[in-house]
Amino acid sequence: MKAVVYQGPYEVAVEEVEDPELKHPNDVIVDITTSCICGSDLHMYEGRTAAEEGIVFGHENMGVVSEVGEAVSTLEEGDRVVMPFNVSCGFCQNCEEGFTGFCTNVNPGFAGGAYGYVAMGPYPGGQAEKLRVPYADHNALKLPEGREHEDAFALLADIFPTGWHGTRLADLQPGESVAVFGAGPVGLMAAYSAKIQGASEIYVVDQVPSRLEMAEENCDAHAIDFREGDPVEQIIDAHGGMVDKGVDAVGYQATDPADVDTDTEDYAYDPAKENPAIVLNNLIRVVRPTGQLGIPGLYVPEDPGAPDDMAAQGRLGIDFGKFFEKGLKCGTGQCNVKQYNRYLRDMIIEGRADPSWVVSHRVSLEEAPEMYEAFDAREEGVTKVLLEP
Ligand SMILES: NC(=O)c1ccc[n+]([C@@H]2O[C@H](COP(=O)([O-])OP(=O)(O)OC[C@H]3O[C@@H](n4cnc5c(N)ncnc54)[C@H](O)[C@@H]3O)[C@@H](O)[C@H]2O)c1
Ligand SMILES: [Zn+2]
Ligand SMILES: [Zn+2]
Repeated sequence: MKAVVYQGPYEVAVEEVEDPELKHPNDVIVDITTSCICGSDLHMYEGRTAAEEGIVFGHENMGVVSEVGEAVSTLEEGDRVVMPFNVSCGFCQNCEEGFTGFCTNVNPGFAGGAYGYVAMGPYPGGQAEKLRVPYADHNALKLPEGREHEDAFALLADIFPTGWHGTRLADLQPGESVAVFGAGPVGLMAAYSAKIQGASEIYVVDQVPSRLEMAEENCDAHAIDFREGDPVEQIIDAHGGMVDKGVDAVGYQATDPADVDTDTEDYAYDPAKENPAIVLNNLIRVVRPTGQLGIPGLYVPEDPGAPDDMAAQGRLGIDFGKFFEKGLKCGTGQCNVKQYNRYLRDMIIEGRADPSWVVSHRVSLEEAPEMYEAFDAREEGVTKVLLEP
């Protein structure tokens, strides 16, 4: 079958690889109908992780079950399903308690597994024609048959639940104000989730105009362009004070607004302009004393391309004194997709949510190399790319 294979920094290719096979009676094979490119893939794509060439990318997968292992009891050939990006077992302590992003069985020596991701276990990704799904009864969420809501349902694999998770990590309550840093797919979904959950005011910070416009149009958010000045001061001026809650949807490869060349329209990440602690410190400044920060943006214990030696070991210059002084709280980590995907699916089915507005491109798998390049450059208008084999 064809699959998107990592070749080394800034290079992916669509290659012929072995078809997946049932390896365990609890597996199913899914014929992929949609697999998305994610900002998380870009950390590997840019050579900013320990990923080695040969990994088949793709952790946001949906499709139709084509082969069913003997021990699978709830799925049949022909079922339309979407898989959480997490691979999890369902019966370890973390899974039992709902923390399926931290499963201790699927990736021995580590808490958490995923498809097509460095250090997340031996699970090839789904930017391919087919995918093996382990512990399939647990890991596949059934969808209504047909093609309806294909874009919206594909987002249940990661970014809609992850954006939602960002607001839950911040313990957002109805009527509260929130600042979301990053208007990539995850930030946009966090802002959309905040709107659904009844936030009173939503601020979304980025520098890419088309992304900020999407936040205004679809999330009733106030757009804060960090090219126009310190985003924290802009929010405090507009809101008349600090906000109740904050979400980091950027992560460690954050651009330092102070280093941006505002004469160009280049929005690509550049290690020379990065400051891995800037978003965390801006959140510490902008959230009111006793407020809470949700941090779904990715941080890593090792960064081979870090701007300095400390950051290379995942050690960041965080303003912990201010954090303590303000009595702030925070939540971090991979999204436990299974905590939310069933409910978000039902909101889509009932017409109460439709996150598909975030999708900018649906293209064939063959176009993956060009689309990785464009999405990595944060090109205007390239917000969320869906691949179709
Ligand atoms: N916790 C999880 O389960 C989980 C799941 C998916 C993605 N993620 C992570 O979430 C983050 C966002 O993912 P994405 O797909 O939206 O990626 P993305 O790279 O497309 O979006 C990040 C956005 O942040 C903006 N940005 C950069 N520096 C900034 C700054 N200083 N202030 C404000 N905005 C800034 C960029 O312009 C970009 O639009 C990534 O780190 C990704 O790895 C985490
Ligand atoms: Zn993802
Ligand atoms: Zn488990």
